[in-house]
Amino acid sequence: MKQEEYRAVPFAVPQRASLGRWIAVLCLALNVTTALAQSPAADSAAPPDTLQQRLLACTGCHGNEGRAASDGFYPRIAGKPEGYLYNQLINFREGRRHFQPMSYMVDYQSDDYLKEMAQYFSSQHPPFAAPQKFDVPQSTLDQGQELVKSGDPSKKIPACSACHGEALAGVNPAIPGLLGLPRDYIIDQLGSWKSGARRAAAPDCMGQIAGRLTAQQIGAIAAWIGSQTADNQARPADHAAQPLPLDCGGVPASAGSGAGR
Ligand code: HEC
Ligand code: HEC
Repeated sequence: MKQEEYRAVPFAVPQRASLGRWIAVLCLALNVTTALAQSPAADSAAPPDTLQQRLLACTGCHGNEGRAASDGFYPRIAGKPEGYLYNQLINFREGRRHFQPMSYMVDYQSDDYLKEMAQYFSSQHPPFAAPQKFDVPQSTLDQGQELVKSGDPSKKIPACSACHGEALAGVNPAIPGLLGLPRDYIIDQLGSWKSGARRAAAPDCMGQIAGRLTAQQIGAIAAWIGSQTADNQARPADHAAQPLPLDCGGVPASAGSGAGR
């Protein structure tokens, strides 16, 4: 039911819900879970139970090395900070994020196992896909850029770059880069935070920020980010340049820092 509520977000992208894709996704997830559950001792003829083999479960949807497929639905996981990836696997497991095949896959996995996968994908740096081209007015792109770089002080919306890094390449250990994310995925994630369908560990700074953004602002931000060329050499910064403007759960340096609201 959560999934319904998630899809009901007014600005969620309609192309997400296609029966064919759901069937494909579920079949894949089932195959994949069987592969994950296979123990090396179960069948001497089975291929060795290596991390590489188990990761095939993930790359079917997330692309080789987690680079993301071109349809803009499966997020790139390659090169995102390890702590961020790990937090998301936990968020799916604990029900703070909802995408059934993902939750299904991580439900019975140990923390160590999830850490191992997070570590693998975070150390991959395959090239980014070319940015998307959209038919949106330049004024919308300008508005998106302004919000990302300077925020909207009148609505207490901090600049996205204050946390996601000047280069928007993310900050270790737990803030993801934004460049390279497809427009539809960004709209969907911010919409999910706004509706409460996606949550992060408390205090959920992204929940607060998404709650202050209008659907129109989200569209402008997503269009601008989605149209930028990501730098293949960019890596997450080691630490934020200054204290984060809001506390974020799951981000060790910020939680409890008492930053202003
Ligand atoms: C059936 C397709 C599918 C499979 C298989 C799959 N994923 Fe996902 N994964 C998704 C989708 C779709 C999302 C985004 C869900 C959403 O909208 O929140 C996602 C999200 C994620 C995220 C959060 C990414 C972010 O940027 O926030 C991580 C991390 C992740 N997956 C890791 C994995 C790992 C590790 C595996 C293998 C064990 C795996 N996934 C297998 C489809 C899949
Ligand atoms: C106070 C710090 C902070 C600010 C400011 C901030 N973010 Fe975030 N953002 C985070 C953190 C922390 C996460 C990871 C949350 C989690 O663990 O789920 C995140 C995650 C995200 C994600 C999810 C990425 C993915 O791969 O799924 C998107 C999209 C995002 N932020 C967009 C924005 C935008 C757009 C802005 C500006 C309007 C912004 N953020 C401002 C801290 C911040």
